[in-house]
This record gives sequence, structure tokens and C-alpha cells, in this order.
Amino acid sequence: MAFISLRQLLDHAAEFNYGVPAFNINNLEQIQAIMEAAEKTRSPVILQASAGARKYAGEPYLRHMVLAAVETHPHIPVVLHQDHGASPAVCTQSIRSGFTSVMMDGSLREDAKTPASYDYNVDVTHKVCEIAHAIGVSVEGELGCLGSLESGQAGEEDGVGAEGVLTHDMMLTDPAQAKDFVARTGVDALAIAIGTSHGAYKFTREPSGDILDIDRIAAIHEAVPNTHLVMHGSSSVPQEWLAIIREHGGDLRETFGVPVEEIQRGIRSGVRKVNIDTDIRLAMTGAMRRSFAKDPSEFDPRKALIAAKNAARDLCAQRFEAFGCSGHADRIKPVPLELMVKRYH
Ligand code: G3H
Ligand code: 13P
Ligand code: ZN
Repeated sequence: MAFISLRQLLDHAAEFNYGVPAFNINNLEQIQAIMEAAEKTRSPVILQASAGARKYAGEPYLRHMVLAAVETHPHIPVVLHQDHGASPAVCTQSIRSGFTSVMMDGSLREDAKTPASYDYNVDVTHKVCEIAHAIGVSVEGELGCLGSLESGQAGEEDGVGAEGVLTHDMMLTDPAQAKDFVARTGVDALAIAIGTSHGAYKFTREPSGDILDIDRIAAIHEAVPNTHLVMHGSSSVPQEWLAIIREHGGDLRETFGVPVEEIQRGIRSGVRKVNIDTDIRLAMTGAMRRSFAKDPSEFDPRKALIAAKNAARDLCAQRFEAFGCSGHADRIKPVPLELMVKRYH
């Protein structure tokens, strides 16, 4: 079994200057798509599951599908990561389920929509680090709230994100505060706010520096050089998939995502984990719509699902290549979680 911790994978990524896409999983086809892309490009993998994913699939299904993925691809190192844990209890449950990494998102209160105070964030994140590190599981924290610098809205159509309008201060991570946060919590990875947001509607135009603050990454990295930086809301929202969805009856308004070149610039400045969910959703929806439209007499859902899986696989392979992850699967020797404990004590 090639499960590894996030810490081990991102330490390797930092040593060899690459970034790792962290893809959200909910169902069989998404997991197969990511693993096939990893196999093809020989990349290590981060599979991340949100609370919504566990609700959708059910914890036992999710757990067994991930076990099947690791059994099918024994030579691909896999991090199983809890995305946006809303409380220490959620993180503890994930650890019991076999996750090798958890995100304690203390930037928001437990309702996952009310911005939390800094002290609350430090307190819950520190608590999770104590629990997780005692058994070698890694922890990602978040400082600053994700949100659009254009509108001040979090864009929380998927249930994760602040409600109401946020100020620029809340939506941009402060490097000095990041230093204090890391010292007081001990997180392995830190999600930063630089103007990205979840979902398909991130920017109303191709983003420039005033609405996507990639330059800030270097300053945060300098303040916390040993903590791995994470970019959430990093789907690129490919225009070609928007066009395919519209061509086949979908109704999506004009929108722009985070260009792959900007993510590459982020990786050069210290980003190691890049969260992507929406792009997989768009590719699968586009492929399914096209498949149903091409052959209206087809009633075997597997045809559309295979098209969806192949579309997601190709997208994931492009991201593995673009972030410099390809080829690294074979260079990582899995360290058991029991041995990871040592680095924390
Ligand atoms: O962080 C947000 C991810 O896109 C997860 O979305 O809560 O709909 O599973 P979800
Ligand atoms: P996207 O909605 O841009 O894919 O972001 C996903 C994410 O950040 C999951 O935590
Ligand atoms: Zn996120």
C-alpha cells in the first residue's frame, strides 16, 4: 500500500521545485480518472474529500474506493486528504477513516460560512496538530478567507466559503501574521488567500495582479519557508469546456479561472499544493452532455460516464505535467506514518 503523508510528499515537492495538484473526489469515475492520469504521467497523487463528498458517497464507499485505487496502482504514492475540515471533530473522524492528512479550516467558524477570529483559528488548528501529529498525520491550516477581490464575495456555491461581503484585508493573507500562525500552530501546510475563490465564477475578466495577487506568495513564502503553501480555488475554468457545455444545452455565463501560467508562477514562488475541483466537474459535465447529445438513442449510462472519465483523466494529466509533478512517483520511497511522528517530537 502506497499511502503517504502530505508532509512527506510536499517536502519532496519543495526539494525538487514542483507543485502537486490536489484533486477533489466524490465518485468512482473521478478516482479512476485521477489515478489513470497519475499512472500515465508517473505522478504522486493527492486525493482530497470534502464533507460534501462524504455526504454524497458515504464514508465507507469513499474509503473502499480509495483502497481500491491504491490496490490497482500500487506504485503510485497516494495522500488521502480531508478538504476543509470545519472542526477538530471532523478532522478526528477523518483520521479514524484512514486519512493521511487533514485540513483544519479555522478561517471560518464551524458553520463553514462565518469568518472566525484569529485566536479561534489558532486555537482549533493547534488542537488538530496535536492530535494528528501524534500519529504522523499531516495538517493544513488556512489563514485569510477565500474570496473575490472584484466583488468581495466568497463564491460559496459549493457550500464552503464565507457568507456576505468581505474586506480586502480579510481576503489577503498577511505574511507577518502567517509567521505567527505557523509558530503557534505547527501546521505542515498553509492555505493562503490571494484572490482565488471556489467554483466556476472566479473572475469576470482574465485576472490581472489587482484581482489575483500572485506576487504576495513570495512574501508569504519568505516569512514561512518551511511550511508548504496551498492555493485553493485554483481551477482554470477552461474556455473550451465552457463552450462545449453551452453548445449542448448548458447555461453558464461568461467567467474566467486561474490561468495555468499564473499557477506555475505561484509554484516558482513556493506553492506546493494546488486545489482543483471545478475543472474536473466542468470537463465531466461537458463530456456527458456531448455524449448524450451525440447519440440520443443510447440508454447505457456507462457510455457517458466513460466519456466523462476520459475527459477528467486528460485534464488531470495536463495539470500533472504543467505543475512539474510528472515522473516523481518513482522517486518517492513511502515513509510509514509511525516514522513521520518522529519529525514532530
Ligand atoms: O472546497 C470546495 C470543494 O470544491 C468541495 O466542494 O463541498 O461541493 O464537495 P463540495
Ligand atoms: P476550485 O473550485 O477552483 O476547483 O477549487 C477547489 C478547492 O479549492 C477545493 O478545496
Ligand atoms: Zn478549497
